[in-house]
Amino acid sequence: MGRYHFVFPRWSNLLLPAAIVVGTTAPLYVAFLVAFGFSPKTTDVGYQPVQPIPFSHAVHAGQLGMDCRYCHNTVEVAAKAAIPPTQTCMNCHTQIHPESELLKPLWESYRTGRPVEWVRVHDLPDYTYFNHSAHVTRGVSCVECHGRVDTMDRVWQVEPLSMSWCLECHRYPDPHLRDPDLVTQLEWGWDWDAAERLAEGERWRDINDLHPSQDCTTCHR
Ligand code: HEC
Ligand code: HEC
Ligand code: HEC
Ligand code: HEC
Ligand code: HEC
Repeated sequence: MGRYHFVFPRWSNLLLPAAIVVGTTAPLYVAFLVAFGFSPKTTDVGYQPVQPIPFSHAVHAGQLGMDCRYCHNTVEVAAKAAIPPTQTCMNCHTQIHPESELLKPLWESYRTGRPVEWVRVHDLPDYTYFNHSAHVTRGVSCVECHGRVDTMDRVWQVEPLSMSWCLECHRYPDPHLRDPDLVTQLEWGWDWDAAERLAEGERWRDINDLHPSQDCTTCHR
């Protein structure tokens, strides 16, 4: 928390519902707000907090080839992508490197039943609504919003997650779409040329009949 307060203080949460009501009737006001949405300052690109355990996605998702959904198992069915409980790690780590110094906090959590205190990386302001399942089941891959997590030793924020960034894709999603069965294959499509990749995106937009909404109430409820 606190990372957004430099740009928009708490009271902007209270003003937002009013802004939307006024915004739907006063086009100039909307233009003003959207101009704010385009502000390049509302970003946290590069934010990379230190975690209580140096868990590496490059090792687990990259080298070991584990699917994202093994751990983030709600990502296709819910708004939030679950962070795995200690038990998921222990499926392997009671066997693998059980004596490792790095895994001490994991064992501590296992013994006490207190969850590991992972530090959030991506965090939208409270007045916004985001939904994972709406994206991944429509063929928007994790890589479009989180980058090559499968090559990261420590997760960092790759995209701005600003309103203008959301809207840019909602206006023209075609270059970002793929077969929904391939959303967790982050390396897929990287060796395609841009024209081929776009044609594939357009194809999936047709197949799934996608029309991302730009209404204020889609993301502000
Ligand atoms: C596709 C999703 C999406 C839509 C549609 C959308 N917003 Fe936003 N909006 C966001 C996100 C995400 C943020 C938070 C941006 C940040 O943290 O930098 C935001 C922030 C805001 C803010 C806070 C100020 C700012 O720019 O950071 C206002 C005011 C706002 N939106 C108004 C609106 C209005 C009015 C509409 C309709 C014309 C609208 N939004 C449509 C996603 C959306
Ligand atoms: C073995 C379990 C495991 C697998 C497999 C896994 N993750 Fe994670 N993921 C975690 C844990 C634990 C965290 C919290 C600690 C951290 O941020 O590294 C996390 C954090 C994240 C975050 C940051 C969440 C935040 O706080 O904003 C993203 C994004 C993410 N994972 C994406 C992925 C993607 C994409 C894949 C597949 C390529 C994947 N993960 C595979 C366990 C896993
Ligand atoms: C499917 C099995 C599997 C799961 C589940 C798993 N790991 Fe691992 N993990 C491994 C393997 C295998 C290695 C060793 C890789 C190597 O030595 O090259 C490893 C290595 C590690 C290491 C480095 C240990 C060291 O001493 O070098 C840490 C830390 C770690 N895992 C944390 C976690 C956490 C936290 C979770 C749960 C979010 C988790 N792992 C889930 C298989 C797993
Ligand atoms: C369209 C963009 C987008 C896609 C696609 C996407 N994410 Fe996210 N992800 C986000 C945003 C935005 C947040 C922050 C949400 C918030 O603060 O409410 C987030 C947060 C997370 C978190 C932290 C927990 C949470 O839900 O807030 C994890 C873990 C995560 N994403 C994993 C994944 C995985 C795994 C995939 C692919 C299967 C994926 N994401 C696909 C945008 C995306
Ligand atoms: C890379 C492209 C992309 C990005 C980036 C993106 N979206 Fe979306 N979004 C989509 C697509 C595609 C859909 C599905 C449209 C459909 O089903 O017709 C969607 C759907 C949604 C829905 C579900 C709407 C409904 O009617 O159920 C919400 C909410 C949403 N997006 C919010 C956001 C927010 C907030 C952000 C930014 C933090 C964001 N999106 C960023 C492509 C994107």
